[in-house]
Amino acid sequence: MTVLTESVRLETEGDVALIVIDNPPVNALSWHVRQGLNDGFSQAIENGAKAIVVICDGRTFIAGADISELGGKPKGPGLGKTQSSMEDSIVPVIAAIHGTALGGGLEVALCAHYRVALDSAKFGLPEVNLGLLPGAGGTQRLPRLTGIPKALEMMTSGRHIGTDEALECGLVDEVTSGDLADLRTAAVAFANRAIDESMPLARVRDRNDKVEQSRGDTELFANFRKSIARKTRNFLAPEYNIQCLEAAANLPFEEGIEVEAKLFLEVMTGPQSAAQRYQFFAQRAANKIPDVPRDTPKVNIESCGVLGAGTMGGGIAMNFANVGIPVTIVERSQEALDKGLAVVLKNYERSASRGSIPPEAVAERMGLITGSTDKADFATCDIVIEAVFEDMDLKQSIFRELDEICKTGAILASNTSALNLNEIAAVTSRPESVIGLHFFSPANVMKLLEIVRGDKTSDTTIATSMALAKRINKIAALVGVCRGFVGNRMLARRGAEAEKMILEGATPAQVDRVLFEFGFPMGPFAMSDMAGLDIGWNEKTSSSSNIRDLLCESGRRGQKNGRGYYTYDAETRASTPDPEVEQIIKDFAAAKGIEQREVSDQEVLERCLYPMINEGAKILEEGMAIRGSDVDVIWVNGYGWPAYHGGPMYWADTVGLDELLGKIKGYANTLDGAHWQPSALLERLASEGGQLQTFTN
Ligand code: 3HC
Ligand code: NAI
Repeated sequence: MTVLTESVRLETEGDVALIVIDNPPVNALSWHVRQGLNDGFSQAIENGAKAIVVICDGRTFIAGADISELGGKPKGPGLGKTQSSMEDSIVPVIAAIHGTALGGGLEVALCAHYRVALDSAKFGLPEVNLGLLPGAGGTQRLPRLTGIPKALEMMTSGRHIGTDEALECGLVDEVTSGDLADLRTAAVAFANRAIDESMPLARVRDRNDKVEQSRGDTELFANFRKSIARKTRNFLAPEYNIQCLEAAANLPFEEGIEVEAKLFLEVMTGPQSAAQRYQFFAQRAANKIPDVPRDTPKVNIESCGVLGAGTMGGGIAMNFANVGIPVTIVERSQEALDKGLAVVLKNYERSASRGSIPPEAVAERMGLITGSTDKADFATCDIVIEAVFEDMDLKQSIFRELDEICKTGAILASNTSALNLNEIAAVTSRPESVIGLHFFSPANVMKLLEIVRGDKTSDTTIATSMALAKRINKIAALVGVCRGFVGNRMLARRGAEAEKMILEGATPAQVDRVLFEFGFPMGPFAMSDMAGLDIGWNEKTSSSSNIRDLLCESGRRGQKNGRGYYTYDAETRASTPDPEVEQIIKDFAAAKGIEQREVSDQEVLERCLYPMINEGAKILEEGMAIRGSDVDVIWVNGYGWPAYHGGPMYWADTVGLDELLGKIKGYANTLDGAHWQPSALLERLASEGGQLQTFTN
């Protein structure tokens, strides 16, 4: 065995040399890995190896470039040199893959002559999610194995594929089962076969049959662009990935590589990728709770209870069934239970009909959900999540009951969106086991989970909830108890200003357009229409005191009855501004003595976003979020803040805290509302030249 660098060593088994990479946690292609690979190939050949296996220690094959190195000063050899040593090797090179071969990792594997994988391995080019494209030849090599249509789908979604799919599309040559030691045995056996049978040195770059099938097919690319247009609006990387595949279809390999290199440099040095790479690390940082040690004991969660099968309860239950955790869902009546379970079934059937889950998964997952009308059935659950109406008396009476029913050590969670968790915990004999798990609607789809820490919530309850979030594929952020927690508290500021601006002369359509153009999927008025204007509105107590009251009083309930801030086409659900609404707003403004004027788009943007940022800074100041980056994780994953703007705290730093503070103070001179009073933290950071994105409590 020869140590090549701190992360790479060379081993020998007979005629086969093994280059072994050990760069925890995910064997990223740090500079010393690239250096070790280079040295490994030349030494192996010098030593007379007749075949070379590239394999990794630890949990995974190379999971990509070292993202923390991207954008910094280059160090060590470039990846291109390593790839040439592999591809042009005079002896066969076999990549032995376990875990996840992603990004630059898969691009290295594509330079081997053969690929052997464990059956649990996954493959993908997820660069697009970092605002990038596969910059190490992946855009030209992947389609040479999979064909252009599959590469288009994989590269613009970043989806990881399993070994069945990888075998089918020609990405791997052999699949084996077992553990890492079995993979090593299989790869060495493959290498010996390659030697004995003089297998050809198959270079992916030389294969043109599959890309030629799409040569000159402009319709294929035009249709594909159309199919992802809504989802990828304003993002640069998906379009650049497509352009690279057009080059793969229409140009020789070397020219395709030139296109890739030019476009890669542009996205890598651009603002979108910087923001998306920041978001990648922000999500991982949010998992770390400074005062909850990593080795904190956790409750073993084998079963889950959900109380309430309404809008949220059904979706919450699906998250657990999706990962094989049995769920008991309890409703107050058989009728409500049947209704809730029917919605869950319909959701699964829709996913199956779209092909996002296999048909047999519908019955499997429904089989993991047991309905009941008796809370006593929660007795054996390891965690129970309450999702009944938002009413403190009701929640307190339920938590008293759950405390009686649930076994010692079980976690009692509430999905409340705004109520005081401490008051809920206080009625139980185990406030240390009470926590908020704030899912977002639709709960089976939205990635974010705000985990709400009460005054008495224990480390074990927090550590268990954070780990559980990861298990059910959510992105979690820990927050403190305050009205609306982090996301909704900031959202309320935006809503208040948007409401004021339409009285001053902006229209709902203008406000929504400005936020849509910024990158939100929709603006506040379209969102209210979608949620239903009558949520929280009561016909008997309605007092014509705001626009929403007036709209509801005139029978406008939002999308559900085709009339809200907008009018909706019955078939297409397309929205159009309605003169009747504009008149209602004008009359109300006149009655209040508010003079209408033209409001510029810039003012709309600033008055929507700046008070939110100010509120975010107050949240940090009060310790209700641990880090500025946690606030960004919440907004990108729960509220549609565009990932290419990083998040509100990150974006504020790009605007400049000094400039932002000046604007906030300017608005505070003419506008009412505590949300215009500058946060002390914002003032301090602006004066010190600090940043919100790196602020940590
Ligand atoms: N570079 C640097 N660090 C990385 C990394 C990478 N490519 N991938 C993961 N890490 C780090 C994480 O920051 C985290 O660090 P921490 O423990 O200090 O917080 C640690 O590895 C573990 O990561 P996860 O918590 O995400 O672990 P999981 O087991 O849940 O997931 C994974 C593993 C699927 C590999 C996931 O980490 C992942 O998706 N990583 C990114 C993969 C990727 O995007 N690769 C492409 C990179 S760009 C590229 O290759 C450009 C090329 O084309 C030139
Ligand atoms: P919902 O009204 O759709 O569902 C509540 C369900 O609880 C109903 O099916 C009802 O029959 C059931 N229920 C009421 N009392 C019960 C009892 N004593 N025992 C058993 N079941 C009972 O409400 P939704 O929207 O699902 O909200 C539930 C909770 O989730 C609330 O606290 C809400 O604030 C919170 N929340 C809601 C979000 C949303 O977008 N709807 C988002 C995030 C949180």
